[in-house]
Amino acid sequence: MMNVLEAIESRTSIRAYLDRPVEKEVIQKILDTARWSPSGVNTQPWRVAVVRGDRLRQLSEEFLRLSAAGVRPAPDYDYYPGEWVDPYKTRRFQCGMALYQALGIGREDKEKRKEAALNNYRFFGAPASLFFFIDRRMGKGSWLDMGMFIQSVMLAARGLGLGSCPQASTADYPDAVREILGIAEQNLLLCGMALGYADEKHPVNQYRTAREPVEAFSSWHD
Ligand SMILES: Cc1cc2nc3c(=O)[nH]c(=O)nc-3n(C[C@H](O)[C@H](O)[C@H](O)COP(=O)(O)O)c2cc1C
Repeated sequence: MMNVLEAIESRTSIRAYLDRPVEKEVIQKILDTARWSPSGVNTQPWRVAVVRGDRLRQLSEEFLRLSAAGVRPAPDYDYYPGEWVDPYKTRRFQCGMALYQALGIGREDKEKRKEAALNNYRFFGAPASLFFFIDRRMGKGSWLDMGMFIQSVMLAARGLGLGSCPQASTADYPDAVREILGIAEQNLLLCGMALGYADEKHPVNQYRTAREPVEAFSSWHD
């Protein structure tokens, strides 16, 4: 099994998957590992819905239907700021450009861009999706716990040879998710995550996003 540094460095968002199911035992193992993530006073605020098969198809169809009907996404919270400022604005732009370039979509091709975005609602062809919820009664700090837990899930998946892509987009219609999965309103939907075996040969999985060097985001105080 790969070591933890290797797992962190080599994880990337996977946006094309093989038509190969993920066994229940493998997902069980991923969650069984991720549950050892830390959380403030060991609150373990995470709640995960594992969705596969017909239920996953149903969710996908519902997202696509809502989107085609012009229903505006109504996520449980604002992931992004209303107004983008630099350096985040530029990074966001570069992130999009890298994706479109890998898919061979030109700057002006709005139709193809839209279609690529809609692929989120198909979980990029992944055979499984995880949905991460947090109890609304918990405080802001618990959102940190959720982030750590979600990264643990992705690293465990990586260690077991699976690819993943965290998806804020599949939290666009949280009421539909809760209704279809029978999840109580008390649970706030943070994000989804596509999970499966990566189609390594697909161009969309062959580029890497850049990162700032350590000097750019750290200061040392000795
Ligand atoms: C919480 C979260 C939500 C995300 N939502 C989406 C999404 O809806 N669709 C998508 O294609 N990528 C999504 N991403 C993936 C980011 O674009 C990706 O992590 C970033 O560009 C860095 O690339 P890497 O993951 O390949 O290292 C999300 C990432 C995070 C952490």
